[in-house]
Amino acid sequence: MKIAFFDTKDYDIPYFTEEGKRYGVEFKFYEAKLSLDTVELARGFDGVCVFVNDEVGEEVVDRLFSFGVRIIALRCAGYNNVAIEHCYKKIHVVRVPAYSPYAVAEHAMALLLTSVRRIHKAYNRTKEFNFSLSGLTGFDLHGRTVGVIGTGKIGRIFIDICKGFGMNVLAYDKFPGQAEGFSYVSLGELFERSDIISLHCPLSEETYHLIGAEAIGKMKKGVILLNTSRGALIDAEALLEGIKARKVGAALLDVYEEESDLFFRDFSGHIVEDDTLARLISMPNVIVTSHQAFLTQEALKNIAETTVGNLVAFEREGVCENELCYRCGNIETCKRSRLEKCF
Ligand code: NAI
Repeated sequence: MKIAFFDTKDYDIPYFTEEGKRYGVEFKFYEAKLSLDTVELARGFDGVCVFVNDEVGEEVVDRLFSFGVRIIALRCAGYNNVAIEHCYKKIHVVRVPAYSPYAVAEHAMALLLTSVRRIHKAYNRTKEFNFSLSGLTGFDLHGRTVGVIGTGKIGRIFIDICKGFGMNVLAYDKFPGQAEGFSYVSLGELFERSDIISLHCPLSEETYHLIGAEAIGKMKKGVILLNTSRGALIDAEALLEGIKARKVGAALLDVYEEESDLFFRDFSGHIVEDDTLARLISMPNVIVTSHQAFLTQEALKNIAETTVGNLVAFEREGVCENELCYRCGNIETCKRSRLEKCF
């Protein structure tokens, strides 16, 4: 199989090259993101491999289909950037449902600890032999209430980590599971009672700007917002206003709603045009990492193995358990995607 690999980063190449060689999958690595401007690069390939910020809208899908591309292999879990329904009867879509939920949950806790114990400030100070403690007072996480939105794979691991710290855990999920050592509450109650709110639900039409001015208005003064899920779950303008009004005590963001033209690239020495992001980054109580929560050796290995496994299963058997079924609408849980082909 020949696969056009878009939005390649240096850390992708060794893992995918090695795994591809083992199973006869040949990758052509392109630095460019997949979009209408770059879709021509996919001509002559059996499939494309894309990541979170590639733009696979309806027109791109039509062009890929006209080139004979048969499969879109997402090397991530989220698929909000792919026109899934439009792919039906044209191109199969597979994904990596989990590669290391620990990586993301641990990164969320790393951001939280960095913020509440001012590690980022202490690091810079001691590099200059400034050993003053002034302004570094933090607070104990023990006994604080954390609200977790989305109790899937990552959310549940984050809950376990928080419980290890002796925190009280509230959770909200549209499809709640069994609550072990935490309580499910309504979204409104979670907003009202939480000292820290961490987002672990997918981005969809329903969850777009889940955290906006109205939600922030219901939260405690000084609330810490933690987003390692998808940027557009938070209305960035409303967040900025909440910070300026001293309502939001800290924002810890691994994702940002307008990240696709910025994240994963080096803009040091450039003028960044996004005023909202620039203002957020300038705030003393905001920490931004550039969508790196997934980035561990274990996750990269799992991503390459599962992606190549998906491609090989599709090629050999025409069925792949990680195919997203877009016929019935229940795209993650549809049995058909596991037992028979979608089309
Ligand atoms: P998952 O599918 O295991 O869990 C998602 C949970 O969200 C499920 O329990 C589901 O019922 C719930 N949910 C769905 N719609 C909801 C709604 N409207 N309101 C509240 N809850 C809702 O997914 P997983 O693996 O835990 O990943 C969660 C998210 O993390 C992904 O959607 C992805 O956007 C993000 N992610 C971020 C990464 C990063 O590097 N920053 C890496 C991997 C995933």
